[in-house]
Amino acid sequence: MTGSTPNGSPHRPDGDRNVIVSQRYRFRAAAHVLSPDCPVLADLMPAEVGPARVLVILDEGLTHAAPWTTERVQQYAEAHGDRLTLAGPIEVVAGGEQTKNDWATYERVVRAIHDGNLCRHSYVLAIGGGAVLDAVGFAAATAHRGVRLVRMPTTTLAQADAGIGVKNGINAFGKKNFLGTFTVPWAVVNDPSLPATLSDREWRCGFSEAVKVALVKDASLFERIESAADSLGQRDEGVARSIIQHSAELHLDHIVDGGDPFELTVARPLDFGHWSAHKLEQMTGFRLRHGEAVAIGVALDSLYSALAGLLAWDDAVRVVDTLKRIGFSLYDDALQNTSDLLDGLDEFREHLGGRLTIAMIDSIGVQRDVHDMDRAVLADAIDRLRGTSLQHL
Ligand SMILES: NC(=O)c1ccc[n+]([C@@H]2O[C@H](COP(=O)([O-])OP(=O)(O)OC[C@H]3O[C@@H](n4cnc5c(N)ncnc54)[C@H](O)[C@@H]3O)[C@@H](O)[C@H]2O)c1
Ligand SMILES: [Zn+2]
Repeated sequence: MTGSTPNGSPHRPDGDRNVIVSQRYRFRAAAHVLSPDCPVLADLMPAEVGPARVLVILDEGLTHAAPWTTERVQQYAEAHGDRLTLAGPIEVVAGGEQTKNDWATYERVVRAIHDGNLCRHSYVLAIGGGAVLDAVGFAAATAHRGVRLVRMPTTTLAQADAGIGVKNGINAFGKKNFLGTFTVPWAVVNDPSLPATLSDREWRCGFSEAVKVALVKDASLFERIESAADSLGQRDEGVARSIIQHSAELHLDHIVDGGDPFELTVARPLDFGHWSAHKLEQMTGFRLRHGEAVAIGVALDSLYSALAGLLAWDDAVRVVDTLKRIGFSLYDDALQNTSDLLDGLDEFREHLGGRLTIAMIDSIGVQRDVHDMDRAVLADAIDRLRGTSLQHL
């Protein structure tokens, strides 16, 4: 059959059709978003009839470090009562990876969506670190096959990376993100005042993801991070803000313009350094934070890229030096268990489907895919990481 449907989609002779879905992604960066006089959140949650119904989920780590958050959310809702209303009690869920390691948070959120009678035009507002955003996002994406999700990331890592993407998920069968969906969030709001209460260790974590996205997308961001590395190591929040913003924008550009937001092909440039990072998190029982494991994975794959003849050696040294000056430790004893680590490659391939495809870099800011990894070269890269100073490289 030839011809076309009323909306212009062609009928093909083989019966195949294209399903084209266009979704709006609303990204805002604004400080003190929970101040009653700030319109950003209320503007993002319109309702067709009456005030928007909003279920709020808070990360317990945040409410512990910033106990005033719950009251601020309540005051915000009261101040904007003509436009939004809380669709149930504010839920506080466990923070950190544990929230993804079982069903408890997922179940709690879907139950709250049920109890609050949320519909697809209601909103789930998730305020927390990447782990809480992943678990709550999975619940919001599956209840009613999708309730609108507004994410407010509260860690540097979630603002630079995890909160920006279109993925959610929880861990199962010992595998990271085994259950989850690709879902475009209704909106993401980065409030630079929120990470202020993080420990130094958690605060540092965002910058390994910023280095990662810079290495695969934008040499100018890498140069900015390289020259700011000592300041970041001393927790200079002013410097950090603009780096987080730059990283988030690159991530968003990739989602919007990269041509494959739902990872239907095998290429995953934003997973540079992640095949080993995910495995290291598991192998250490999540003793290593995601951002710490990513720092090791990025250093490892930068050294691998250089030893495999792709990347100039001096550039690999710059990457290692920058991560170290930010304060990351780039070696963990778990790396000695190469055979378990290499299982990470198989798990990565299985998670992605199709042929093994690993992101490497040709130069700073320029990514390329490889389809196998040479074990001897990898062992050499691990050996070099073991040294704690550049001289050992
Ligand atoms: N969906 C994606 O695209 C994507 C991308 C990258 C990472 N991730 C996931 O993100 C998770 C890591 O996220 P993360 O680095 O944000 O860490 P996290 O969510 O594990 O949070 C770290 C700790 O900080 C606490 N916390 C959160 N905000 C706080 C605040 N403002 N003050 C004090 N404490 C606070 C949390 O309770 C937790 O204890 C991993 O599960 C990773 O797999 C997802
Ligand atoms: Zn990551």
